[in-house]
Amino acid sequence: MRTRNGNNTVFLVTALALAALAAFLWIFSAAKGREYRAEAAVTAVPTATVHAVNLVSAAAALSAAETPSPAGTGAADAPMYVTPAPAAFAAAETPAPTASPAPTAVYLASGSAGEGVRTLQQRLRELGFLEGEADGQFGKATKAAVVLFQKQHGLDADGIVGEKTWTTLFGDSAHAMETTPTPAPFHGVAESVPILVNRQHPVGSDWVPEHLVYIADVIPSSVAVLADSKAQGVSEAVYALKTMLEAAIADGVGHWKIREAYRTYDAQKRIFNNYVNKYLEDGRSRSSAISATRQTVADPGTSEHHTGLAFDLNATNTSDAFVDTAQYVWLVRHCWEYGFIIRYTDEKEDVTGFLGEEWHYRYVGVEHARKMHETGMCLEEYLEWLGAAE
Ligand code: DAL
Ligand code: ZN
Repeated sequence: MRTRNGNNTVFLVTALALAALAAFLWIFSAAKGREYRAEAAVTAVPTATVHAVNLVSAAAALSAAETPSPAGTGAADAPMYVTPAPAAFAAAETPAPTASPAPTAVYLASGSAGEGVRTLQQRLRELGFLEGEADGQFGKATKAAVVLFQKQHGLDADGIVGEKTWTTLFGDSAHAMETTPTPAPFHGVAESVPILVNRQHPVGSDWVPEHLVYIADVIPSSVAVLADSKAQGVSEAVYALKTMLEAAIADGVGHWKIREAYRTYDAQKRIFNNYVNKYLEDGRSRSSAISATRQTVADPGTSEHHTGLAFDLNATNTSDAFVDTAQYVWLVRHCWEYGFIIRYTDEKEDVTGFLGEEWHYRYVGVEHARKMHETGMCLEEYLEWLGAAE
C-alpha cells in the first residue's frame, strides 16, 4: 500500500507540477502577447506622428512655393520650392530621411511657373533686366533676362536660377542692368565706294548727307570732348570714331578732342571767307588771299567735312603740334583698323591739293582703309586704281 500510496503521491505531485507549469506558461504567454501588442501600439503612434509631421513639412514647403518672401526683403534666405511641381508632391509623399524641415534648393528654369517665378520676374524688372509683365511663367523673355543678369554678375550664364543666382539677385551685389551701347548703325558707307569730295568733285550747296547724328549722343565726354557740343557726323562714321578712340584709350592714349566734324556749305563758306579776310588784312591781293586760303581750306561745296565723314582731332593734354603727339602716333599705326585714313599728307599734297593735315581723319570703312594703308595710296589714287581695277 505504502508503495501504492507512494506511487499515488508521486503521481499527484507530478500532476500538480505539470498543472503549475501549464498555468505559468499560459500566464507568461498572455503577458507576452499583451507586451507585443503594447509594443506595436507604441510603435504605431510615433509612426503616425512622423507621417503627420512630414505632411506638415510638405504643406509648408508647398505653401512656401506659393508665397515666397517679397523681392528684396531677405528672400535670398527664404528657401523656395519650385518646379518641377511633381517633385514637390513626391517629397510630400516620401518622408524625409530626417525630421529636418524641407530642402533649401532653389531651381527655376524654362517651364517653371508660379509665385516663385513671379517673384523672380519682379526682381528682374526692378533691376531693369526684364520688360513686360511678371506673369509667373518662366518663358523665353525670363530666361533671356536671367542670362543677361548672370552675365553682368559674373555667374554661369545658363539661364537657370539656382541658389547662387537667386542669392545674387537679392543680395547686396545685385546691380541694375548695364545698358550695352546701341550697336553702331550701319548705312553701307563702309561697303560702298568711298565718296570723293574735292575741288574737282564738289557737292551741291543744298546737299546734306543722310544719317547725321549729334556726336555728343554717341561719344561721351570721357572718351572725347567736343569743341562744339552740337557737332554732327554720319552715324556709321561717328560710331567708328568712338570705337577707335576707345581703343586708343584702352592702349593708354587718351585726352581726345573732336575739333571739327560735319560742316554745312554755309559753315564752310564762313570759314573760307574768314581766312581770305585775314590774308586780305595782311595786305595780300584778293587772288593771293584766295590762293593762300586754298592751301588749307576747301572752297564751299568741296570740303570733306561736308560729307559728315571727316573729323579733325586734337589732344587736350598738350599744346604741341598734333604731329608731335602720342595721339597722332597712335592714329598713324591704328586708324585704318577702324576704317579711317589720314586724308591729307605732305607726300600727297600735289594729288590732294592740300598741305598735310595730321589731324584730319576721313572714314571710308575698314576694307578700303586697309587697302590704302597697305598700298600707301591717297583717296584720289585709290579711287582711280579701283576704277581701273573694275
Ligand atoms: N581743311 C580741309 C581741307 C577742309 O577745309 O575741308
Ligand atoms: Zn578737317
